[in-house]
Amino acid sequence: MNLVFLGLPGAGKGTQAALLAEKYDIPHISTGDMFREAVKEETELGKKAKEYMDAGELVPDQVTIGIVRERLAQEDCRRGFILDGFPRTIAQAEALDQVLEELDRELDLALLIAAPEAELIERLTGRRVCQSCGATYHVKFDPPEVEGVCDECGGSLEQREDDKPETVKKRLEVNRKKTDRMVDFYSSKGILTEIDARGEIAAIHQQIIRLIEDGPDDN
Ligand code: AP5
Ligand code: MG
Ligand code: ZN
Repeated sequence: MNLVFLGLPGAGKGTQAALLAEKYDIPHISTGDMFREAVKEETELGKKAKEYMDAGELVPDQVTIGIVRERLAQEDCRRGFILDGFPRTIAQAEALDQVLEELDRELDLALLIAAPEAELIERLTGRRVCQSCGATYHVKFDPPEVEGVCDECGGSLEQREDDKPETVKKRLEVNRKKTDRMVDFYSSKGILTEIDARGEIAAIHQQIIRLIEDGPDDN
């Protein structure tokens, strides 16, 4: 199963991709997570990505395409993968097609996760992320058992650098048109499906599983 998750910041791409990756035992590939990891480790990639991320802008295509190309070629992607937050530009989408062709694979589904903007802002500003394992929480919608402490690993939960209100606004602005373009791109290929991401995380997860297993017509 080869999937792409599309959606504005805060829609729940990462949350749903993580649940699905666990269920089907396939890799969850988030370019945002890969960049944050690189920033933390102060690698060359991290140095290149940091200024764009902090400003809420997109990291240049060439850099982003390079890391995805490398990741998809790894052994664990053979049984399938979930791309979260990639592609975001036409150049990225076209590069992805090319990479998949080289690997003799194709996408099964591009899933747009959609929620109203006011909800996105509330989700983003209340998000907390584990500094050790990357697990995502929300102060109101998905709180940990003990405030500030990760249920999974006991690590400390912090706000993402780019989840401050000014950067959130900028990220939404930057991604709105770009997401629409990705929707058009995959609609014209006939593999786009939209999911209404209002409601409980677990219910949305079930809805996505049904969609994958029964096909879009039954939903
Ligand atoms: P990235 O990390 O991908 O950020 P993003 O696209 O802004 O998306 P988010 O991770 O903020 O949102 P999400 O949809 O994953 O939401 P989540 O599940 O966490 O990218 C960061 C940066 O990296 C970019 O700005 C850019 O600079 C760079 N970058 C990344 N990819 C790139 C690319 N392809 N090209 C160029 N640059 C790139 O959920 C959010 C919160 O809501 C959580 O707290 C969660 O608990 C909560 N929540 C989730 N679902 C629900 C629900 N149903 N109800 C209530 N709360 C919910
Ligand atoms: Mg995410
Ligand atoms: Zn953790």
